[in-house]
Amino acid sequence: MTEQNATQSPKTDQELTEVLLKEEKIYNPSEEVKQKATVKNWEEAQAQALENPEAFWEEAAKELEWEKPWKKVLDESKKPFFTWFKGAKGNIFFNALERHQKTAVKNKIAYIAENERGEKRTLTYGELYQEVNKLAGAFQKLGLKKGDRVTVYLPNMPEVAMTMLACAKLGAIHSVVYAGFSFMALRDRIQDAGSKIVVTSDGILRRGKAINLKDTIDKAVAEGCPSVQHVVVVRHTGEKIEMKEGRDHWFDEISQAAKEEVKTEVLKTSDPLFILYTSGTTAKPKGVVHDHGGYMVGVNRTIKWVFDLKEDDIYWCTADPGWITGHSYIIYGPLMAGVTSIMYEGVPDYPQNDHIWEIVERNKVTILYTAPTLVRMMMKYGEEPPKKHDLSSLRLLGSVGEPINPEAWRWFHQVIGQERCPIMDTWWQTETGMFMVCPLPVTPLKAGSATKPFPGIKAAVVDKEGKPVPVGKGGFLIIENSWPAMLTTLWQNPKRYKETYWEKIPGGYYTTGDVARIDQDGYYWLQGRADDVMNISGHRIGTAEIESALASHEAVVEAGVIGKPHPVKGESAKAFVILKQGFAPSDELIDSLRKQVRTVLGPIAIVEEISFVDKLPKTRSGKIMRRVLKAQELGLPLGDISTLED
Ligand code: PRX
Repeated sequence: MTEQNATQSPKTDQELTEVLLKEEKIYNPSEEVKQKATVKNWEEAQAQALENPEAFWEEAAKELEWEKPWKKVLDESKKPFFTWFKGAKGNIFFNALERHQKTAVKNKIAYIAENERGEKRTLTYGELYQEVNKLAGAFQKLGLKKGDRVTVYLPNMPEVAMTMLACAKLGAIHSVVYAGFSFMALRDRIQDAGSKIVVTSDGILRRGKAINLKDTIDKAVAEGCPSVQHVVVVRHTGEKIEMKEGRDHWFDEISQAAKEEVKTEVLKTSDPLFILYTSGTTAKPKGVVHDHGGYMVGVNRTIKWVFDLKEDDIYWCTADPGWITGHSYIIYGPLMAGVTSIMYEGVPDYPQNDHIWEIVERNKVTILYTAPTLVRMMMKYGEEPPKKHDLSSLRLLGSVGEPINPEAWRWFHQVIGQERCPIMDTWWQTETGMFMVCPLPVTPLKAGSATKPFPGIKAAVVDKEGKPVPVGKGGFLIIENSWPAMLTTLWQNPKRYKETYWEKIPGGYYTTGDVARIDQDGYYWLQGRADDVMNISGHRIGTAEIESALASHEAVVEAGVIGKPHPVKGESAKAFVILKQGFAPSDELIDSLRKQVRTVLGPIAIVEEISFVDKLPKTRSGKIMRRVLKAQELGLPLGDISTLED
């Protein structure tokens, strides 16, 4: 790659000028895009919404069905614990599935599910409704009630949607754990949520291999998860697994046995819909909680405006339901919008490197929402794979997960979008639940910028005192007002919620943990995390989590981990390890350390480089100064080292 990754800061003045000049280019929407767009005037929409955000969100809420209307749009009396649509009653399930049963959407395809083996399955909205109803009945028979938790550990397949929706229907709380996490990470998440039921499959497909998932569950549950009463298993890859009598049930068998119509629980708007664990600055992940009411309003409005969904769209979000992108924009958002989505299990370049483009062509995908790391991976294969396919069905592209570097942006725009498709670079987080800084199809774009806040969102870039920084200068991205899809708290840890998001910067703002700058045109340029959280291939992982995994190895005294820029993954992890006496550096030891991290956290946590050191830079109070390690590693200025012990 010839250009700087957007997460890296340019080193020389000349490089800086070159980057700035390239940024100046504006990509205007075509007449066709403008004509079709739901929102014709982006600036007007923003100005109007900002004048009265509550009125804007109230109008958005009226697009959905509620059992009982709200008394107050936003209750801020317990700030930072906000309640949107106070007094209202309903259930996201009514909007995602139930209401479609009365319209023509019932016979429309909800999901076209494919996998890398070439197997294909379609489900209409009517069929999905039936499946969810049966599963909800089966869950009820297993004793699942409103407020109970269900951990979901499944591949990207329709059963994930069924499980999440069946939980929503019953008012139970789902906690989806990405299937790339190890049994230890899974065990910690099951324990923290206190889940009664775990749903998994016999196996998962990855690059031509089937990997056993059920064994991971068995190991996790065996290691102290007393809350788990039932394990429900989807028959999928045919792995040989053991079923424990009385505890384990086949998904299809218990679903088939359930017959009657199950009542959808009418919930308070603030009742929790799900917990989703995400990495923070300590080794313990945070259980982000989202509710039914506010979440559905935020997700519904953003997906409809940003992806400008039309009745005949074929929409494909390549994320996994194990992450927030999957929750909001594979499951709940597309279903509420009544659109047809692709669900794909596998990697996009297997069995051949044009597989992703073949899926787009064959299904006539109109909207492709993906991640910069995937774009860069596809760039490596060159233009030939996409050129073998007719991609003319595409009309909009999307990017999420990390800053998209201008070179990848332009490749995506030219080679995939054929300069016809605007790119919706959406900045948001597990915590925000919905897009926060992003364009609409009519927005003039700049390669690598997520453009401006979504209507109704007040975002600013400030210094550590909470004061706005001058134009073009980097600072902390904060959100000044609340928004409907925001997290309501951290699971069983309201104190951590307050400290992490509301007390880091003076002024009572929501702290995003990201660094950004705003240019002279008011465009936001995201520059990565400000805290000790890495973003590897769009997956958020805490340096502290990897350090703690390394420290659990018998040879390790202590470890310091940093994220380094990586041309494809965005960032990669490098560990500095102090060994115990009696252990010497060797290739075998490096392998064993990597294996340990994999055992504790799972294959998503890959440590690219390991260095052995005698000492780590620390503050006088003993905290590792990762900032100093990083500066040394990358040859950057050390910055303020007055707190450095030695
Ligand atoms: O650093 C930002 C980055 O991903 C973080 C959120 O990660 P997670 O909660 O796992 O959610 C990812 C999917 C929403 C953010 O704090 N990030 C996400 N999208 C972008 C981004 N950075 C720059 N540009 C984006 N479009």
